Formats: sequence, C-alpha cells, structure tokens
Amino acid sequence: MPKFYLTTPIYYVNARPHLGHTYTTVIADTIARYKRMRGYEVVFLTGTDEHGQKVERAAKAAGVNPQTYADRISREYSELWKELDLAYDRFIRTTEDRHERGVHRLLQHALDAGYIYKGHYEGQYCVFDELYVDDPTPGAPCPDCGRPTERIREENYYFKLSAFQERLLELYETHPEFIQPETRRNEVMAFVRGGLRDLSISRTTLKWGVPWPGDDKHVLYVWYDALTSYMSGIGYGDDEVQFEKYWPADLHLIGKEILRFHAVYWPAFVMAATEKGEPLELPKQIFAHGWWTFAGEKMSKSRGNIALPQPIAQVLGIDALRYFLLREMVFGQDSNFSYESLVTRYNSDLANGLGNLASRVLTMIQNYFEGEIPEPSAGGEREVAVARAASGAIAAALEQYERYEFSRALETIWGVIAEVDKYLVENKPWKLAEDGEQRARLGTILYTAAEALRIVTALAHPVLPHTTQQIWQQLGQFRALASLALDDLSWGGLAAGTRIGEPQAVFPRVKKEEAIERIETMEEQIRNPAQPAASAAATPAAAAPASHKIGIEDFAKVEMRVGEVKTAERVAGADKLLKLMVDIGDEVRQIVAGIAEVYKPEELVGRKVAVVVNLLPRKLRGVESNGMIVAASVPPDGKPVLAGFLEEVPVGARLK
Ligand code: MSP
Repeated sequence: MPKFYLTTPIYYVNARPHLGHTYTTVIADTIARYKRMRGYEVVFLTGTDEHGQKVERAAKAAGVNPQTYADRISREYSELWKELDLAYDRFIRTTEDRHERGVHRLLQHALDAGYIYKGHYEGQYCVFDELYVDDPTPGAPCPDCGRPTERIREENYYFKLSAFQERLLELYETHPEFIQPETRRNEVMAFVRGGLRDLSISRTTLKWGVPWPGDDKHVLYVWYDALTSYMSGIGYGDDEVQFEKYWPADLHLIGKEILRFHAVYWPAFVMAATEKGEPLELPKQIFAHGWWTFAGEKMSKSRGNIALPQPIAQVLGIDALRYFLLREMVFGQDSNFSYESLVTRYNSDLANGLGNLASRVLTMIQNYFEGEIPEPSAGGEREVAVARAASGAIAAALEQYERYEFSRALETIWGVIAEVDKYLVENKPWKLAEDGEQRARLGTILYTAAEALRIVTALAHPVLPHTTQQIWQQLGQFRALASLALDDLSWGGLAAGTRIGEPQAVFPRVKKEEAIERIETMEEQIRNPAQPAASAAATPAAAAPASHKIGIEDFAKVEMRVGEVKTAERVAGADKLLKLMVDIGDEVRQIVAGIAEVYKPEELVGRKVAVVVNLLPRKLRGVESNGMIVAASVPPDGKPVLAGFLEEVPVGARLK
C-alpha cells in the first residue's frame, strides 16, 4: 500500500486555537480522509511549537512556568481537534525528549559537514517573530508583523544558508511541484535569487529552548527546532523503522506567512544533514494557503479579530464548519470570514441542497416502495443525462481533490445535486405515485435519484465525514463509507432491493439571525468564561476550557436559584424560543429560553428549574428576558436538557 505522510504547522502555544488554525487542520483531515479512500496508508501529523521567547513571555504574563503553560495550551489544541473529530495520527510537542533527540541528530550531521560556525550578531531583533531585522534604526518595525524591534548583541551559531542558494534554485526548477501554488513558487524563487545570507540558529537571550549540544549558553533557534518536528514526529532519532517507513513528507500544509521557513530554510537544513549523515530525502511538497480575514485583516490573536470554531460546530455541526471552510475559500487565496455568509451557505447548500435532496428521495422510497430501492427499467434520455452527470462528477471531483481544489470539487458535487433536483422537478415522482400505471417509471426515477445521491454522498465524504455516513446508512449501505475505495465508485452500484434505513433529516434549516446570535453568545462565553454573557436564552453553553479556572469568589458572583415555571408559551416567529414566567421565591420573572425545540410549553408548567437570576436584562426577538434557565448542552448539536432536582426543593433556594 503506498504511503502518504502529511503535516500541519505545529502551532505556537502562546495563544489559544482559533478558526485560522482550525482551517489548516481541517484541510489536512480532509486530505487524509480522501487519500485513505484512494488506497493510501496515511500518516497525518500535527502538534505544538512550545519553545521560544513568545511562549516564555506568555507564561510569565500568566504567572506560571513555561512548561506548565505549554502543557495547558497544547492540551487545548489536542482537545479541540478531538472535539472537532480531526483525526490526526501523530501529535508532536517540541518539549518532548524524543523531539529533542531528533533535533540533536539533525544538527549533529550539519555540524559534521561543516555547515555551522560561530559568529556575532548585533542589530535589531523582532521578539514576536524571533527574527533579525536588517533595518539598523532603533525600534525599526519588523517587516513581518510591524511591531517595534529591539536592539540585541549576541554570539550565535550560524548556519551556512548561503551555501545552498544554487541547490535550492535547482530544487525549485527540477521540482516545480515543490512549492504550491505557482505564484508562491515565483515569490520564493525571486527571494532566493536575490541572495541568501547565513542564518543565526542559536540564541543566548533566552533559556526556553532545545539546549545547544555541548554549549550551555545557547539554545536552538525556535525555527530549527520547530521544523525538525516533521521528522521527529514520525520517529527520527527515536524510532528509525517508523521514520524510514514514512519519510519524506508528501505534503507540508502551511499558511502563506511561514512559506520562507518551509521552502528555503527547511530543505537547506535537510540537505546539510545529508552530506555527512544519512541520505535524507527532501519533502515532496509545500502548499501555502491563504488567510481568513475579518474586514480585510488577517484573523489573528494579536489583532484580536478571531472567530472560534467551537460555537460554529455546536450550533451548525462539525460538517457545516468543514463545508464552509473548504467551499468558501479558494485554496491558496485569502477569504473574508463572516457569520452571515456562513449561515447563508449552510441554509442554501446544506439544508436546501444535500439535506433536502436526501430527505426527499429517501422519504419517497419509504412511502412508495416500502423502504426498498426500486428496480430501474431501461432509462430514457433524462436518466442517461443524470447518470452521465454523476459519472462525470466522479472523474472531475477526484481530479480536483487530487489538486487540492476543494471548492471546485464541492462545486462539481453540488452540480450533481442541482441536476437531480431539476430531474425530480421535471418528472414529479410525487404525481406519478398517484397513478398505479406509472409504477415502473416511478421506480426508475427514484432509483436514478437514489443512485445519484449515493455517488454524491461518497464523493462528499472527505469533507462531510459525519453527515455523509448518516445518509449512506439511510441508503441501506452498511459498510462504513470511509472504507469505500473511491476508485471503485461508478454509476449503477446501488443494488435494487436494498432496504433503506429510517430517513432522518440532516442539516435542518436554521433561522439566520437566531443562529448567528447563538454562535456569538457562545463565543463570548468561551472568551470570558468567568463572566457569563448576558444571555437569557438557554443556549447550549460551551464548556469553559479546563485551563481557565476561576476562584470561588468568581463563582459566587453568579446568583442561581430554584425557580418554578408558572406559565410557558412560544415566542411568535422564533422556533426555538419559549417565554416563561418563573417564580424565583420573592418575585415572578419573565425569562426567554431557547428550548422550544425540545420542550413543549405545557410540559414545563410546574417544573422546578435552576435559574441564573442576576444577569442583565436582555431582549430576544423583542421580548425582554430577566435571567437564564440552566441547561446541559448535549453534543453534537447542543440540544438543551434542563437541569433539575431529584429531591423536593423550595422555590427561591440558592444554588451554591
Ligand atoms: N509555530 C509556527 C509554525 C511552525 S511549523 C514548523 C506557527 N504557529 S502558529 O500558531 O502561528 O500557526 C500558524 C498557522 O496557523 C498558519 O501557518 C496557518 O496554517 C494557520 N493560521 C493562523 N491564522 C490563520 C488565518 N487567519 N487564516 C488561515 N490560516 C491561519 O506559525
């Protein structure tokens, strides 16, 4: 079985994960799933970059030592990836011993080959990017991030990057696929042609790094350390059998801001180690994608304009988050993020598109053929057209996935959905069902639609792993969709007579304003876990990350009481909201709660609930709410389940 080894950048632990980091990891996960369906043995590595001044400073600001800080944020990353079901195979942390062994090994080979020497640096330095800056003016802005630089003088070990200029240019010329997309390759080539200067790869100004072998004063430059994780993460310096099996990397996925490190420094570091060490192959491809921006600016923690993935996944589902990220951004270019377009796409492409097609087709098979896929008779022109569209989409989408053109692959797949929608509208099977004479024709139409749905579902699986598996099962397919070989996918594979499962809606339509409000409320709660947002609706509260502990005095600020629901009614125009009058002991409060999809008004009257009584009043759909009913938010879709009491409790009693 051929192997495919791909990586994400290892993320800095100076900040918590946001949508930008999630984007790269989602792409990697999609490629991993796709490659597995094409018969590859895939290894997908991610991890955290834990050394350097930024982390040292962030830890200091948080009042903990760097290791404790790194442990905390690294866990946030791995937990978030699990929550989003991003199925990486390996996770590497640069503070692990196995990683340090790998770094020392690679470095030793470069030392042996004479590519490292001692020198001095005096000049401006950007602490944030850990970058020496050419401009000698005191406080000159960093060319990468614009922050003021600091003056430093230090003795360093230098890497003879200048010796690799020709070899790098030859690499780019003989392997045009090495840097993608093409425009990025041109930028890198122009940079290297401009001349390469030697690179300082040690620091004496900080302690938080991999120690320089045999010289205690120095730690390794964080980028030498970090890049080597792509090798140590699969066993370099630790488990040679594994390393031999998977190296070289087939794909390093990165954001465009770190292209120079990957396309220039990294291959040079590997080349340097090859000369006197073991023969190491170079990574095969570096793909630099664009940025998610907010109003034209890169989404980043330092700019404070980040969106978080968890609330989106909880309100719309993990697959909706993935779909949006891959469909909206042309891979390689920048794209602006907005909740508005997120929810619009959800409703148009997922709820009205795939979700609606699946439920229509399956429900008709259920109703007209007792849940059995009908036998098609020889199709006419229109059936041939649908079959041709689906077969064409298989070939086109596979090629587009292969080139990592996700938005185009999704367009191709959704083209089939549009074709089938049109086919159904034109042939009106619901009308034919009224006429017994038309049964054979009806069977052909529903077979054709179901088969196209099967193909769409299989093709969309790498992007929508959860919902496509649900539809797959509803189509009566019992082998996991992930184990399907995409190369075997072809028209006609659906067996007549297959019993379908119970049709269940995927991607229910949402009300735009309401969905955005829920997402934003949850974001607020994650950002400020100690100060619950002034939400009165029982929107599923996202759990505060374990790392954000609060003192008892913070908890005491939240006044919770036992309440009894006196009356309950729906809020006009809002499917999710109920208006409750709740007795909290000394008064009866009006509270609006987002629980209408789960609880009927009449079953709530008389029920004892836990109420947060000291929230600021807030209007929801124009109705004032004075408090919040406490509910568990049940994954995956955040369904609310009211908190209650097993024993008798008096109304007004305080919860502590
Ligand atoms: N630690 C380095 C990488 C070392 S790799 C050997 C680093 N870490 S980072 O935490 O800053 O993550 C940067 C990566 O996160 C980007 O390369 C990109 O993959 C992703 N993104 C962060 N913000 C992003 C956007 N606004 N948009 C898209 N991706 C972004 O750099």
